[in-house]
Amino acid sequence: MGTEAIPENFNSLIISDDKELIIVFDKYQVGAGSDGVIKINIPLEEISEIISPEIIRIFDINVSSKTEELVENNKDEITAELHIDCSKESCVALTFDDGPSVYTNKLLDILKEYNVKATFFILGRSAKIQPDTIRRIIAEGHVVANHSWDHKDLSKLPVEAIKQQVNDTDNLIKKIANYEINIFRPPYGAYSKLVQDNVDKPIILWNIDPEDWKDKDAVLVTERMSEATAGSIVLAHDIYPSTIEAIPQVIENLKQKGLKFVTINEMFEAKKLKKGEVLRFRKG
Ligand code: NI
Repeated sequence: MGTEAIPENFNSLIISDDKELIIVFDKYQVGAGSDGVIKINIPLEEISEIISPEIIRIFDINVSSKTEELVENNKDEITAELHIDCSKESCVALTFDDGPSVYTNKLLDILKEYNVKATFFILGRSAKIQPDTIRRIIAEGHVVANHSWDHKDLSKLPVEAIKQQVNDTDNLIKKIANYEINIFRPPYGAYSKLVQDNVDKPIILWNIDPEDWKDKDAVLVTERMSEATAGSIVLAHDIYPSTIEAIPQVIENLKQKGLKFVTINEMFEAKKLKKGEVLRFRKG
């Protein structure tokens, strides 16, 4: 073939004054003899990703938007690696309960776009149906946390049932994602002494509740979530489209306040959390 990627086939390459790469194929090389010499013009901007930086500099080529995107993504990765110290910075933790749901992937897209990390208090029952979503949550740097198997009020259950609700969920996540869960939030925030004594994790509650389960209204949810301040743990549910719709503006509003988004684990990084200890926000 006259177009096979060997040097002999491309011995006539020209870069024109119009910043185009011109590939010249000899008579008979790629077509009938009557077609004569065939030239193909490719604007350099279109192929800026595959030509050397020196050529780009010499010919002053605008790099394509695709290359800019790559640079932008790299920048995000670098930002993500910067460690946030919540004893020095004003931190806020967004937490999403009761998923994963069919809306969780949309939420993950939004969080990715804003480079925000969050904590997902998942139900074992739902995780079993959407293991890929669980693996995506983890792969994208968020924290997966335990919210029981199927959202029973644990404060009304006997000890064996409490343990089963928590352990079955832990074991499933270990199995599908090789991930160890280390924090727990009881359904409805309801816990008993029995729960505190028998769950081997700290109990993470919240101090900002947008009541997004009651008012499925993105504007209201945005307003209420935006009341978060330094140290806040914000509750929300990734099972309502109205909540997902609120998130971009919530992120914008909290960023405006100078708050940095962290996972629950980052928020309490310096503290040694004890099993059964109840936390609603970060002090100081
Ligand atoms: Ni819940």
